[in-house]
Amino acid sequence: MFENMPVITDDEIKEALDFSTKQVVSNLPEFTYKFQKAYSEDNFYQPIENNYWTTGFWTGEVWLAYEYALEHAPHLAEELKKVGEIHIDSFLDRIDRKIEVEHHDMGFLYSPSCVAGYKLIGSEKGKEAAIKAAEQLITRYHPIGEFIQAWGAMDEPGNYRLIIDCLLNLPLLYWASEETGDLKYREIAEKHIHTAIKNVIRDDYSTWHTFFFNMQTGEPDHGETCQGYRNGSAWARGQAWGIYGSALAYRYTGRKEYVEIFKGVTNYFMEHLPKDMVPFWDLEFTDGDDQPRDSSSASIAACGMLEMIKSLDGEEKALYKKYAMQLMKALFDNYAVKDPSVSNGLVLHSTYSNRSPYNTCNHYGVDECNSWGDYFYMEALTRLHKDWKLYW
Ligand code: GLY
Repeated sequence: MFENMPVITDDEIKEALDFSTKQVVSNLPEFTYKFQKAYSEDNFYQPIENNYWTTGFWTGEVWLAYEYALEHAPHLAEELKKVGEIHIDSFLDRIDRKIEVEHHDMGFLYSPSCVAGYKLIGSEKGKEAAIKAAEQLITRYHPIGEFIQAWGAMDEPGNYRLIIDCLLNLPLLYWASEETGDLKYREIAEKHIHTAIKNVIRDDYSTWHTFFFNMQTGEPDHGETCQGYRNGSAWARGQAWGIYGSALAYRYTGRKEYVEIFKGVTNYFMEHLPKDMVPFWDLEFTDGDDQPRDSSSASIAACGMLEMIKSLDGEEKALYKKYAMQLMKALFDNYAVKDPSVSNGLVLHSTYSNRSPYNTCNHYGVDECNSWGDYFYMEALTRLHKDWKLYW
């Protein structure tokens, strides 16, 4: 599979990180006291307040650019650090005032922003904000069913579900236990991981986006898509969250069965890619289908593979590293922004949420840049460039 597809070279990784860092820096005047919207419009991000589930990704890009600048463009590092600190103030204020935090995305928000700031520059405010965010996240845990509820009011059967994306929110809980010595965070994370992986992965290793439980008994009830094409298809980004999520699950639990899950969901993803290796928004679609891509899924999957290979050996390690480098080459060659007049983002042709005849999805951010697509593109490049200390 894809034997003859090229891999990204060291020079290309450097070129991509040079450009990304410059692009982040040129965005700072507009996005220091504001954040990038989740998705671009005609490939340009508009500024928003810090009030959506995606704002941590923009701060994460600032920190990745800071790390790169320290090594390759020290004159840019101080400004990036200052902006990172201004963002941390905003995230601390957000969690203190509980602005749009009644959902499970505390990890997406606080790991690449505040945990990163704490790890990189020892920001005590970052630490305080991220521990408060972990505390907020565990309020969504249901002992009946043993999972963290994704969205909505906690007492409604129609909300009694988890979603595959949440696997990326859980490293925040492991970090909080490590920092505070209080094991309650990681105990909840472990329960959730177990429940999620048992239910969202189908027999063929495709994945459910969301999974419902019976509110009275906690028994698994049924899977349902929210952002995928139809019930039973594999939403591309959900599958990619499963790849990175299972790699992180293994990192934090050490449970061997998650390595098998990683291989299964990754192989399914790879087997359902079109010729140029960048997925359509749902893995149901392939070459010849008139459907938008979700380039962000390729970056997320590459990050998951680059995490998992730390614990693999021999041919398996080589295989998943090659896949990750091929995905990044495909993005670099054909999807990455190379000219700031085309976009103020980093990667084109992503899809946030696309309506279909079989779902009730919102229709926005289709065939645009999105904030996590840009962040994970930079993260994957950084992982290839050096031995990167995780924000997750
Ligand atoms: N976590 C929401 C999304 O991937 O769109």
